[in-house]
This record gives sequence, C-alpha cells and structure tokens, in this order.
Amino acid sequence: VTFWVVVPAAGVGSRMQADRPKQYLALAGRTVMEQTLQVFLDHPGLKGLTVSLAAEDPYWPGLSCSHDPRIWRADGGRERADSVLNALALLRAKGAEALDWVLVHDAARPNLAASDLQHLLASLADDPLGGLLAVPARDTLKRAGEDGRVEATVDRSVIWHALTPQMFRLGTLHDALAGALEAGATVTDEASAIEWAGGHPRLVEGRADNLKITRPEDLHWLAQRWQS
Ligand code: CTP
Ligand code: MG
Repeated sequence: VTFWVVVPAAGVGSRMQADRPKQYLALAGRTVMEQTLQVFLDHPGLKGLTVSLAAEDPYWPGLSCSHDPRIWRADGGRERADSVLNALALLRAKGAEALDWVLVHDAARPNLAASDLQHLLASLADDPLGGLLAVPARDTLKRAGEDGRVEATVDRSVIWHALTPQMFRLGTLHDALAGALEAGATVTDEASAIEWAGGHPRLVEGRADNLKITRPEDLHWLAQRWQS
C-alpha cells in the first residue's frame, strides 16, 4: 500500500505547560517531532508527508528532517481540523489524488510502533472507507450523575479509545472535514468528521503505549520507557 501522511503540529500545548510546544520538547536525544516522523520516513510506502505548523514556528527549521525532500510544510489553522484541511490541500497541489490513502497522525504521538503502522495499513488496504488505530477500554466505566454519584456502569465491551494514525481516502476525508467544520459540528479527530458525514470507520486494535503526550507525566513515562 502507498500512502500520504499528514501530521498536524500547530498546537501550543497549553496543558503541557512547558516553555515551548510539546512536539519540540526533547525525548531520547531528539525532539518529540523527529521521533514521531521517523516511523513514516522509514516506510517504503510513503509518497510524501505534510506537517502543519504555526505561522511563527521558530523550532521547525532547526530540525534535521526539515530539509527532507519528502516533507512539506503547510499552515496550521485555528482548530486541529483546520490544520489537517490545509495539509490536504497542499497534498493535492503536490499531486495526491482523491482516491489516495492519507494517514493523519498527531505530532505529539511519538511512540507508534512500525508493527502497528503495518497492521493498520494491512487491515484497511481493501476497506471501502478506512478507519483508525484504537484500544479497547480496560477499566470499569461509570456514568456520573449531576450529583457526582454513579448513575450506572457502562458496558465496557463496546467502548474504545481512539488513537492515530487515522486512515481515509483523501477526497472523502477532505469533504467530511470541510462539511463538518462548515456545519459547526464538534470535530476532535478525523473519524468524527467521517461519522458526521454518515460513515462508520473501522476500529483496528493497536498498542496502548501509542500515547499522545498531553501532560508532563506522559513525557516522563515515555522517556523512562525509552531509556530502558
Ligand atoms: N494541532 C494542530 N492545530 C491546532 C491544534 C492542534 O495542528 N489548531 C495539533 C497539535 O499540534 C497536536 C495534535 O493536533 O499534534 C493533537 O492536539 P493536542 O494534543 O490537543 O495538542 P495541543 O493543542 O498543542 O495541546 P493543548 O490542547 O494542551 O493546548
Ligand atoms: Mg488541543
């Protein structure tokens, strides 16, 4: 399977409370961003990769991968979905076609295993729509009432955590994101836009350690794992 990649990286990382956006913090001798991109750059099916960056991003030009001819830079947008849409438009300009596969992956998710990437690609290559890496819920789940007491225990067997990459055809993804944004729908990932448009993305079980760095303890956890 051949594919394009979009990495939205225009967030400010407010929950991380660091001196720079979390994708530019250090992890195992490189930046989080460089670690994130490596698994895609190592894959023979990669046709090209677009990173969406904030307008005044002073960090990207300093990374060695900023000179990689397979990587292009798009403008970040107000919301993550805007950043992804800008990147899809750039891919079109670079020759990507509506039926080509696009994988969207968070810049702040540096621990995607090559085997999970391969599993996603293999699982969805013949799928009519596409889907996403996800992990089944592990803990017992409670629905809270307004008084902060348990109202009910939720059936865990049908609940999954959505991860990235999320893999869809370029044209389908573009139209779903544009439509959902236009309608003011809540779009927190690519799959939610596809769902808004009436699609049912396939859940592909991945590894739970493909975590998104959101708070300081996430980075500490990954750094420790990578050390040993
Ligand atoms: N992102 C983006 N454009 C935006 C907002 C987010 O490209 N307007 C990217 C982030 O850079 C990140 C990914 O989307 O790689 C997931 O978003 P999130 O984890 O929420 O990152 P931040 O928005 O940077 O963090 P926070 O919400 O804590 O400010
Ligand atoms: Mg955010």
